[in-house]
Amino acid sequence: MALRVCVTGAAGQIAYSLLYSVAKGDVFGKDQPVILTLLDIPPMMGVLEGVVMELQDCALPILQEVIATSDEREAFTDIDVAMLVGAMPRREGMERKDLLKANAKIFKSQGKSLDQYAKKTVKVVVVGNPANTNALIAMKCAPSIPKENFSCLTRLDQNRAKSQIAGKCSVPTSAVKKVTIWGNHSSTQFPDAMHAVVVKDGKDIQASEAVNDDAWLKGDFITTVQKRGAAVIAARKLSSAMSAAKAICDHVRDWVQGTADDDWVSMGVISDGNSYGVPEGLVYSFPVKLSGGKWTIVDGLAVDAFAREKMDVTAKELVEERDAAFAFIAD
Ligand code: NAD
Ligand code: LMR
Repeated sequence: MALRVCVTGAAGQIAYSLLYSVAKGDVFGKDQPVILTLLDIPPMMGVLEGVVMELQDCALPILQEVIATSDEREAFTDIDVAMLVGAMPRREGMERKDLLKANAKIFKSQGKSLDQYAKKTVKVVVVGNPANTNALIAMKCAPSIPKENFSCLTRLDQNRAKSQIAGKCSVPTSAVKKVTIWGNHSSTQFPDAMHAVVVKDGKDIQASEAVNDDAWLKGDFITTVQKRGAAVIAARKLSSAMSAAKAICDHVRDWVQGTADDDWVSMGVISDGNSYGVPEGLVYSFPVKLSGGKWTIVDGLAVDAFAREKMDVTAKELVEERDAAFAFIAD
């Protein structure tokens, strides 16, 4: 049976990389047929037509059908997976939370449509910024879908963190495991290598030992990852797209296919108030293990005073975003 996968913002720059990867089997497997439903706004229908032509011209064996539409009902009916990318991106000088007012209404409307038309088992990843709070809005507007089915993308931050550590240790990125992104996909996020492991000469060693530069791990490493999105915007005059698309594929592939026994991944998921002192009811990025299509927060990790302070700062920002967002969507 084909999987129905919806990508919103389908005429945009992230989707241009994402659609090809999904349609060639990078996410659901090389033998799993997919039907793509592509949502964008009415003025973009001409561009979207071109994207559909290109998908057809790729002649991809698992791509069974492509539906391009500006109608949420058509895009979301009976879908198995929703990749909610469509939203305004930030420009130079903006923080992601500056997009809250502009983008909150998109996720209110799409949450309601998911509630009405999608399968109750739909897996949702929100990419449009501010991603954590938009995921919370969509979740709140879709009460008939389990909260656990909503997530936001912090895998790009995790990939950035892995790549920084790998570069510092002169190992491939595949040799870096158990890196965590805590909190918001914003400049307050806490990229944490305290529990990370680096495989060197066939042996697992603590990242702190492999890096052997505590000042870097507590300083430039963290700020580089926190500010990487802004650095890409400053250089490209456009926000990250290729790396964002790759991270979305990693996120959904692992959610569907599971994580390796000796690693974990980071994703923004609903906090229950019982994990790592994070207040209840936020979409907060935690280290998670994935199996059978379900996530579980990795528990029992030691949190020292340095980490505690950073985890609280990003939680506080999410509380503020939530309160502002709920006020916007109330009217
Ligand atoms: P883009 O401007 O190139 O494309 C966005 C697309 O969304 C446009 O085609 C636009 O018409 C469409 N859109 C707007 N409103 C819509 C709606 N209501 N329904 C459907 N489509 C709609 O932007 P992009 O570079 O593809 O980025 C998209 C979003 O992803 C931005 O908010 C950006 O900040 C965010 N982003 C998040 C991450 C992350 O790691 N979470 C990484 C990169 C970018
Ligand atoms: C990113 O991290 O690259 C995206 O969230 C885009 C941005 O605004 O930084």
